[in-house]
Amino acid sequence: MVTNQASNLKELLAKDEKYLSSALYRVFHIVAEKGEGPYIYSTDGVKYLDLTCGIGVTQLGHCHEEVIKAAQEQLTKLVHISCVTHHTENIKLAEKLASILPGNLNNTFFCNSGSEAVDGAIKFARRLNPGRPNLIAFKGSFHGRTIGGTSLSSSKEVHRKFYDPLLPGVNFVEFPNCYTGKYKEHSAERVLETLEQMFKSYLSPDSISAMIIEAMQGEGGYLPAPLKPINFLKELRNICDKHKILLICDEVQSGIGRTGKWFSINHYDVVPDVITIAKGLGNGLPIGGFCASHERMSTMPPASHGSTFGGNPVSCAAAYKTLEVIERDNLLDYVFKTGSEIIDHLAKELSTQANVRGFGFMIGIELESKEKVEKVKDECFKENILILPTGEKAIRLLPPLNIEKALLTNSIDKLINIIKKV
Ligand SMILES: Cc1ncc(COP(=O)(O)O)c(C=O)c1O
Repeated sequence: MVTNQASNLKELLAKDEKYLSSALYRVFHIVAEKGEGPYIYSTDGVKYLDLTCGIGVTQLGHCHEEVIKAAQEQLTKLVHISCVTHHTENIKLAEKLASILPGNLNNTFFCNSGSEAVDGAIKFARRLNPGRPNLIAFKGSFHGRTIGGTSLSSSKEVHRKFYDPLLPGVNFVEFPNCYTGKYKEHSAERVLETLEQMFKSYLSPDSISAMIIEAMQGEGGYLPAPLKPINFLKELRNICDKHKILLICDEVQSGIGRTGKWFSINHYDVVPDVITIAKGLGNGLPIGGFCASHERMSTMPPASHGSTFGGNPVSCAAAYKTLEVIERDNLLDYVFKTGSEIIDHLAKELSTQANVRGFGFMIGIELESKEKVEKVKDECFKENILILPTGEKAIRLLPPLNIEKALLTNSIDKLINIIKKV
């Protein structure tokens, strides 16, 4: 039980306002003090069910005992060494990642965040594909806050406004949407045609080093790329192969078991050339990376990229334990099966109010309007349940992968009632 004598919400928020940058957006104006499994506790002692996982990070819930123990043990052994020497923990973690990555992807560069992973992947693509300055990204995508990540993102105006000139050579293509009527013109076939037309008319494919895509868009509205009637990712794979363009799959939000498979691209049976990871990897400790084949990664000579803190021993130890627990506890099967049941249940119950989509525990519920989404979020908050909006007018659910089924279904039923009422 959280006791907080010093808890004075008003005072804390005033100090927050005074000392923290206004650029930092917060969804809920409570002050978190403690996390435990699927719950967080605010300074005033209120317990909230966290269906956000700190935006897809605490895959095993807050302060998972085994992950914390692994990090604590590492803290007493070696905290930091950077590139001064090799160290045991990034070797161990990279080997583990190689065993879960698809196809021939078996080599990782570690950094601290998703944005850095994306920037690194772009540098890698440019090195591997020299003389090809252009990139392709998809509308509605989000790839981070660095200048590189910002340049490749288009989910919200506020993320880009006033930051020009951004990285040149980024070309945006529609992300196919097979879910909502309004976007019928953005069918997978149509998007692929547009791409071919671009290649023929003004953007030579041999000027493009890489294409970056989220197989399931995160900030863009929890929108999976279509699998039917055509597998969009497979078609992109073919186009990339034909033109020697690298296919980068950004799994920062959708990876590490979130969708009931290690990576969302696994649902499409496609092996990309590069995968970017972060968020859920360290269960809350900062770590990211980009992964490719050993053969390709070896084209980057020593010091052609680097990071002081990237892949630090403590984050690596926490990440290794996170992967081990997901595997040991068969969480991928649990998430896939439970997530499918929940998605079906939501779709059935909300057939007239919402478009429900997703894989595993990455669930999007698109409502009629942004206002409705805000109201639902506020009503959930009143019931001590934290959910997040995404995209133009969708709710996203990202519960911990190990949440008890009864707790999850119970909260989903509360959410359904709220949506029906609102
Ligand atoms: C798909 C995707 N890529 C990259 C990022 C950036 O990650 P970070 O905030 O760790 O820099 C995010 C963050 O939300 C993301 O969802």
